[in-house]
Amino acid sequence: MAKIDKKSWRKACQKEMEKAALKEAKSRTGKKTPAFMYRWEHVQAVVAQALKLAKKTKADKEIVEAAAWLHDIKKFEDGPKHAKLGAKFALEFLPKTDFPAEKIDAVAAAISVHAGLWRDKPLKNLESQVLWDADKLTKIGLTAAFHLLPNELLRPGRQHTTESIVAFGKNAEWQSKTVASFHTEPARKAGAKRLKSLRKMWDQVEKELAGKDL
Ligand SMILES: [Fe+2]
Ligand SMILES: [Fe+2]
Repeated sequence: MAKIDKKSWRKACQKEMEKAALKEAKSRTGKKTPAFMYRWEHVQAVVAQALKLAKKTKADKEIVEAAAWLHDIKKFEDGPKHAKLGAKFALEFLPKTDFPAEKIDAVAAAISVHAGLWRDKPLKNLESQVLWDADKLTKIGLTAAFHLLPNELLRPGRQHTTESIVAFGKNAEWQSKTVASFHTEPARKAGAKRLKSLRKMWDQVEKELAGKDL
C-alpha cells in the first residue's frame, strides 16, 4: 500500500481507488497505458451522484462519500465477493486516515450490501440505500453507453460490429428491475427518465442505420 494521506481521508481514498482502477484497466485492456479506465470513471460518477442523493435525502454525506470512493476497490481482485472484501478494506483503511472513527462501521455496512443489479428486498439503512441507488444510477442512463461501451470495446479478444454494439447496448432486460429496486425518490424519478433516454438512444441508432428516418 502506498503512503496514506492521514490528513485527508478523501484524497487517501481517491488515491487507493485510482490505483486499483488502473490495475484493473491494465489487465482488462492488456495495455500498460489503458486508453480508458472504466472503473475510475464509474467511481467518480457514483461519488458525484451519491453526494447529490445524500443532500436530497439528508443522508450522512461523509459516510456516503467514503463508501462511494471505496465501494469497488476490490472489484478487480474478487468480482463476486468484492462487496464484502471492500467493506473489510474500509474497516482497515479508514482508521489510518482522519475519517471520523464513529462513522467507519456505517461505511463498511453500505459497501458490504452494494452489489447486485436489482433487489428483491429493499435495504434498510439510508446511507446504504443512497450508495446502492447512486451505483446503479450510473448504469442505466446515457452514462452507461459512455462508460460500459468503451470498457467492452477495449477488452482484448473482443471483436465487434455496429450490429453487435447495438445488441450489447440493448441487451439490458435487467435495467427495468434496477429502476424498480431504487430506494430513494430522486433515484426512482431520475432512473425512470434515464432508462427511457437510453432505450430511445439505441432505437434511434437502429433507425438511423437502417435509414428508417429518411
Ligand atoms: Fe460493485
Ligand atoms: Fe460500482
